[in-house]
Amino acid sequence: MFYIYPFTERSEMMSYYLDHAATTPLDPEVLNAMMPYLTDLYANPSSLHDQGIFIRKKINETRESVAKAFHVSTSGVVFTSGGTEATNLALLGYAKAHPEKKHILTTTIEHHATTHTVEALEHLGYDIDFIPVDQEGFIVVDQFKKLIRHDTLLVSIIWGNNEIGTIQDVKVLGQIAHEHGAVFHVDAVQMAGQTIIDLSQLPIDMMTISAHKFYGPKGIGALILNQGITIQPILYGGQHEKGLRSGTENVSGIIGLAKALELARSRVNSYCKELLSIHDAYRKLLKKVIPEIEFNGPKDSTKRLSSILSLSLPNVSSTELQYALNRKGIYVSTGSACLSNEIKGSHVLEAIKRDSSYATLRLSFGTKSELKDIPQICQTIKEIYEDLRDYWPHRWGLFYFIDPLHISRLKCYNVTGESALQFKGEQHV
Ligand SMILES: Cc1ncc(COP(=O)(O)O)c(C=O)c1O
Repeated sequence: MFYIYPFTERSEMMSYYLDHAATTPLDPEVLNAMMPYLTDLYANPSSLHDQGIFIRKKINETRESVAKAFHVSTSGVVFTSGGTEATNLALLGYAKAHPEKKHILTTTIEHHATTHTVEALEHLGYDIDFIPVDQEGFIVVDQFKKLIRHDTLLVSIIWGNNEIGTIQDVKVLGQIAHEHGAVFHVDAVQMAGQTIIDLSQLPIDMMTISAHKFYGPKGIGALILNQGITIQPILYGGQHEKGLRSGTENVSGIIGLAKALELARSRVNSYCKELLSIHDAYRKLLKKVIPEIEFNGPKDSTKRLSSILSLSLPNVSSTELQYALNRKGIYVSTGSACLSNEIKGSHVLEAIKRDSSYATLRLSFGTKSELKDIPQICQTIKEIYEDLRDYWPHRWGLFYFIDPLHISRLKCYNVTGESALQFKGEQHV
């Protein structure tokens, strides 16, 4: 079978995938584990014949293995279509089950799965407050203490930030939430493959995970509920997942999530060590070749995800940098992946007060990153940056002369004549 990829014109060129925070490639071992459930074992687990019963049993065993990994009971594992749905279920489902309190706290650096869900709750009459973060992306604990109230229902925070890599101290934050009688939800989507999580030892009541961020398939995630936490469903139907998430189970996805989790746990130390050496090597070399570069997120390497390196460069545009790198086969993001096709400022960068005259790129590392590629990639970033920077004032002057109000369907060229960026519609630059 032939697949036509949109990048076939450059298929001869080497490509370097530096976008593991957006998604990771499916591990072949995970695919192997899933394969029978994508082929021969196709019965519906709700069917009362032998194959259906076999698959139901398999789902139950898989749920047990996921529950064991996080030290929760099997009823604490609710499979969902991914991280976004798990967070929706946590926030909306908990609010529905506990209508007595109407105040919710979250932070200014959440993924949109959280910010847009709390916005929906605001429309339903909830009072939402956003805890500020410092310049490295850490929650300001004093502000948190000031904002939390006797009627705070829940506190939702992102554990490892997907744009700048800041890892919050969930022990301290969860304890504060509990002292005030609020439940504590964490978005562990970026953390889950990079640490062993024992929920019997942490003040976390609800946790979101997503398989495609740790070499599992896309379209499957889970909400993990700690002992005694009750929620109500947000989807209604056939009462699957003990009534908490109706809809025929994504059987191969569930098998894939569990396998990916098992592999991630077994490799966590060597994987994190590898990520750290890659991260450090990029940091050092980029600083050497581009002295004006600035890095975002924590300076302390123990308090950031080694998988994420957020960098900022003066006097260029991040979308132009991204497009020019793309032309060279270097795949990175500007801000978070879910937004990278929108030319729009990042609320996370705004929250850490990143100077908006700087362009920010996110390099994110994983199994597709290799130490040997670093010198060439850093050199390419330097060359592209210098080309774009040197051309910067002239080009923008020209743009505004052509179309001072908004730029539509305008193609611009970098100094080497390559198409660097195509603005579509009414993007504001
Ligand atoms: C921190 C974080 N939370 C939630 C999500 C959403 O997960 P999913 O893509 O599985 O819906 C993402 C994905 O980019 C993420 O990075």
